[in-house]
Amino acid sequence: MRLNNKVAIITGAANGIGYAAAERFIEEGAFVFIADFDDKAGIVAAQQLGQNATFIQVDVASRESVKHLVIAVIEQAGRIDILVNNAGITRDAMLTKMTEDQFQQVLDVNLTGVFHCTQEVIPHMVAVGGGKIINTSSVSGVYGNVGQTNYAATKAAIVGMTKTWAKELGRKGINVNAVAPGFTETDMVKKMPENILAQMRSIVPLQRLGTPRDIANAYLFLASDEASYVHGHTLHVDGAIMM
Ligand code: CAA
Ligand code: NAI
Repeated sequence: MRLNNKVAIITGAANGIGYAAAERFIEEGAFVFIADFDDKAGIVAAQQLGQNATFIQVDVASRESVKHLVIAVIEQAGRIDILVNNAGITRDAMLTKMTEDQFQQVLDVNLTGVFHCTQEVIPHMVAVGGGKIINTSSVSGVYGNVGQTNYAATKAAIVGMTKTWAKELGRKGINVNAVAPGFTETDMVKKMPENILAQMRSIVPLQRLGTPRDIANAYLFLASDEASYVHGHTLHVDGAIMM
């Protein structure tokens, strides 16, 4: 068991990649807190994943909501070993058509949300002598993507924050890394026009989209002790779409 008795918070784990990560972490012995805005899916996810999964509703964009999440986890589990900052949204539009609201909503969740969760969790990791922070970037943040000014900006920022936190938190025993998934089969890509998704699929050398479990396995590696000397890194899990 690679995560035996570890306590993990995975944001956005009611669906998609986060759900697959919760499943994978539990298979490896972890207790997982599914921290998600979507209470319907969150309750179902916790039921499906069994006694090592607990759902707590949170809006990562709200500092108060994240504070409540972290207090609840400490009350119930007593410690936090792993934080996976996985929650994310898209509000795609061409630059010339993007509204201020579309721009700001994506920043609030994908960027400020990661700042909130990490800042609230750090004191608890320091208290137990260390921990693992895993952030979620994207192929769009590394290479850019048509229609994603807002989203690409946040996902590029994740790479910079990950490196900065690696420099600040390494001496406190906290490992910080990121995963940059390629196009992965979840509700997020279902919103894309089918012709553009087909175009993306066709340029992946592996000739398929990622599965949520492909990405969950990368989170698992970075959360495990096997990755203790991997630090400040952004791991591309994208079938080499942009190589
Ligand atoms: N790559 C290449 N070309 C793209 C493109 C993309 N991702 N998205 C749009 N285009 C092209 C269109 O084919 C179109 O080209 P033509 O003018 O030659 O026909 C042009 O850009 C304008 O597109 P639309 O006519 O569709 O313009 P619109 O204003 O109606 O819609 C849009 C714009 C909302 C951005 C829509 O095109 C769209 O949803 N595109 C997909 C954007 C995308 O890739 N999102 C990724 C979502 S998944 C995700 O975000 C996960 C992740 O991390 C990768
Ligand atoms: P998804 O849409 O299937 O799941 C995202 C989850 O985040 C949902 O359960 C949603 O309720 C939750 N969420 C949204 N806003 C929230 C908020 N304010 N507070 C708490 N939870 C919130 O998306 P998917 O595909 O599983 O994405 C997971 C992560 O992976 C995101 O950060 C996304 O940007 C990233 N990613 C996804 C890719 C893909 O192709 N699917 C590619 C690259 C990165």
